[in-house]
Amino acid sequence: MNAHGEPAAFRADSFSVFLACQLSFTSAIIEKCSSKGEDAHALARAPKIAPNRNALHPFDRKYGTDTGGYLSPDDLRGGATSDAMNNGYSAVGPSVFRVACRRWRETLLSSTSRLEAYTFVDVGAGKGRALLLAAESPFRKVIGVELNEELARIARRNIIIWKRTTRSRGKIRVLEQDALDFRWPRAPLLVYLNNPFECELVEKLAARLASLAASGPGLVDLLYVNPACADTLTKNGNFELLWNAQIQMDEADQQADPYGAASDRVAAFRFRTQRPGGNFPRPTARAPAA
Ligand SMILES: C[S@@+](CC[C@H](N)C(=O)[O-])C[C@H]1O[C@@H](n2cnc3c(N)ncnc32)[C@H](O)[C@@H]1O
Repeated sequence: MNAHGEPAAFRADSFSVFLACQLSFTSAIIEKCSSKGEDAHALARAPKIAPNRNALHPFDRKYGTDTGGYLSPDDLRGGATSDAMNNGYSAVGPSVFRVACRRWRETLLSSTSRLEAYTFVDVGAGKGRALLLAAESPFRKVIGVELNEELARIARRNIIIWKRTTRSRGKIRVLEQDALDFRWPRAPLLVYLNNPFECELVEKLAARLASLAASGPGLVDLLYVNPACADTLTKNGNFELLWNAQIQMDEADQQADPYGAASDRVAAFRFRTQRPGGNFPRPTARAPAA
């Protein structure tokens, strides 16, 4: 898969192509779902995968940051063990992120937990756009974990620029490391993923989060953009699906989306507490499509 839930730059097997196609509904993505290729053709095809990769997003124009573009899995190879499972870089559309975050927040309304108690962790923070968007909300802390050294450096620079422009004083940190080596802070956690890596790593991540949640108060939620490995999360029974929606991008996001997409699928999950009458309200309804 690449970062947008599409077949990886030519490492896709038929099952991952099938999954990507099940989860992706824009015509741009459908076009990509219908083709597979060879590694040697990856770079030549990059403009086709992300024809709009050079567009300047209004977010960056407004804040003077550099969060846009597309980088293929090959572009991001830096010698890490997990490089082979990296799906590449592109940033979430702010309109999609804000709607997804609001919907997740609505699931807290009937519970005793408050957003202010949650630490937001972006697994695969890239250039940090989602971190900056998360910092618009009063999370206890905002943390990004990024495998690629150069992207982590850009994210830190973006945070400095964004804080200067917005005069925000929120805590935002970027750690340059493999998400699987990350020492998780205490719950409550909102773990955010924008299809950073392949299902094998999602499975390992889910196992870690489940043991963290089971050993503490259990408050671990996931917000998963382009959820190519959604089944991996739910199949062992530790996480339940709160909602799953196709979220429409606003016009600015559509125009600057590297893939020329008009919407993104997002799914929210919650650690399934084992305790009778546990901490969480059960979801009452699926969020309708945006
Ligand atoms: C699609 S980008 C998402 C960027 C950002 N989270 C957003 O939504 O705007 C996924 C990022 O995950 C990073 N990544 C991939 N595998 C990783 C790993 N094992 N540990 C940490 N980061 C990883 C990639 O380098 C890439 O920057």
